[in-house]
Amino acid sequence: NGSANDSKNLRVKLVLLGDSGVGKSCIVLRFVRGQFDPTSKVTIGASFLSQTIALQDSTTVKFEIWDTAGQERYAALAPLYYRGAAVAVVVYDITSPESFAKAQYWVKELQKHGSPGMIMALVGNKADLQEKREVSAQDGMEYAEKNGMFFIETSAKTADNINQLFEEIAKRLP
Ligand code: GTP
Ligand code: MG
Repeated sequence: NGSANDSKNLRVKLVLLGDSGVGKSCIVLRFVRGQFDPTSKVTIGASFLSQTIALQDSTTVKFEIWDTAGQERYAALAPLYYRGAAVAVVVYDITSPESFAKAQYWVKELQKHGSPGMIMALVGNKADLQEKREVSAQDGMEYAEKNGMFFIETSAKTADNINQLFEEIAKRLP
């Protein structure tokens, strides 16, 4: 009845990058399983998870998520994961200016070596820790805007803006 072409099924390779401890694995765990682990262990190498979401227009998007290890010793592995990725999510911790500087390093690396036309999101995580905030939302937003990125603050702990992050990415897919 001709309505079949109203829906499509997309498959998207997404990579998370950012300093160790900013909450990349917790963001993924919250998105995929709806859980939060306060004793989350550092990631070794990288881990892979997938999750499918449905958009309003009945498009489905399957995210194939590479959650990379933020510790410095794994930095050389990152290209294995961001190469060929359609989406990069660069995460920092709003209580850590060092992690914001590290996020900027990853953005530059992606601009030099990532896929052309890659969708990039800048995520300020741990937004529940307002009293410990050291990076303003304004600074995050301005940096993202200058670099053609989508910006959002999230909390893997409270789940604030976690689904929105992935929905906003899905909306921006070609
Ligand atoms: P690497 O795997 O080493 O790169 O670190 P990661 O970025 O994956 O960090 P991970 O998700 O393991 O989280 C590190 C710590 O931050 C854990 O103790 C988490 O419980 C905590 N954490 C993560 N997200 C949040 C958040 O949104 N709010 C708060 N308060 N703590 C968080
Ligand atoms: Mg991790």
